[in-house]
Amino acid sequence: MIDKAIKTPIPGGCVGYLSIGKEELEIATELLSQPEKLWRYRENSYTTRFEQEACELTGAKHALFVNSGTSALSCCLAGLAIGPGDEVLVSAYTYIATASACIEVGAVPVPCEIDESLGIDPAEIDRRVTPYTKAVILTHMQGVPARTEAVRAAAKRHGLLMIEDCCQAIGAKYKGRYCGVDSDAFAWSLNYFKNITCGEGGCFFTNDDRVYARGYFQSDPAGVMWGNGIGEDSGVPYFTRAGYRASELCGGVAYAQLHKLERNLAVTRGLKKMLISALNTPRHYRLQRVDDPEGDCGVSFAMIANTKEECKKLTEALDCEGLTVGSAYSSAFPDRHIFTFWEGIVKRQGATPKNYPWNDPAYKGSADYSADSCPKTLDILSRSLRLSINQAMTRQNMIEIAEAINKADSSF
Ligand SMILES: Cc1ncc(COP(=O)(O)O)c(C=O)c1O
Repeated sequence: MIDKAIKTPIPGGCVGYLSIGKEELEIATELLSQPEKLWRYRENSYTTRFEQEACELTGAKHALFVNSGTSALSCCLAGLAIGPGDEVLVSAYTYIATASACIEVGAVPVPCEIDESLGIDPAEIDRRVTPYTKAVILTHMQGVPARTEAVRAAAKRHGLLMIEDCCQAIGAKYKGRYCGVDSDAFAWSLNYFKNITCGEGGCFFTNDDRVYARGYFQSDPAGVMWGNGIGEDSGVPYFTRAGYRASELCGGVAYAQLHKLERNLAVTRGLKKMLISALNTPRHYRLQRVDDPEGDCGVSFAMIANTKEECKKLTEALDCEGLTVGSAYSSAFPDRHIFTFWEGIVKRQGATPKNYPWNDPAYKGSADYSADSCPKTLDILSRSLRLSINQAMTRQNMIEIAEAINKADSSF
């Protein structure tokens, strides 16, 4: 009978919903007991206050709360006038929504290889750019800031717009600045799994007045009716498109959650540092490359084994120690964050038999979604082992997780 390293139950759950409490309940109760307050465009609504405080926190000029992170990404793309005929570089390791937001506006997503940061390999921008490339969407996966500076430099070199998908990384910073704020636009998701949540929600950010106006038009088919400070006088030609208008009930919950973000992340950051400092020098793995550990949300921890075989053995040895990790050899598959599992996209299946955007006459490119298109990504992910961290975990959990990893690493 093996003496397992994990003796204390590891609390599951996600940072946002674990902190839902009386503040969220009070706002929801207030709104439901005074239903005349449920309109998000009423004066001083919670949704508007969320937008103002999210701008103050991140340093962004404009924020628009919408119904999902996918919608927020579509606002970024439409805001930047990206559409039919355009290619958008995306990570081959990101939630399918990053790519599907491109399709929503009529553009074609092009997957780029990741490196051991688990974010886009900056060298890929040079390799994947075509005459049709208009923008890059940089995803910060699992709360870890991606290699932002190098990707931005490459995007600039090619005259590309840059969007940051911060859906999994609300609160992450890069070199002391909130992720996204130095790009043309960025998006948050507040879905059930995220660092702050209202069940479902998202937020589109930009520093540019015109991009904001266009993103706003994208979000509401009758946008000019509600004004939101943007009317015919904004000088931006009005268009009508999708319906992403937020619910004030969600805006209210999001408002309460925003106030808890930094406190929760201070805990997860501390826990992750503690875990890393308790690890022995690794034999069979390396830690995920994190260029800015201070800006990391601390909500995930990833190891990259030297070989697939070592990954499999580590997964099994950790399981014996009582620690279940996300890897290609555990129940975490299929994983819709890996481009080969982006069904519909890999088959280039559009919503109608015309199969837009791929067969759109405006599109002249030939985006490739075969497994051969990003072999390095598949190799890295076949060797990676991942764990989530939340604020309900304790020092003791970290000590035991580190012991499990140390034992597993020295077991073969
Ligand atoms: C990286 C990433 N981008 C976009 C999204 C889409 O967000 P939502 O589910 O709120 O539409 C998610 C959601 O899981 C995500 O993880």
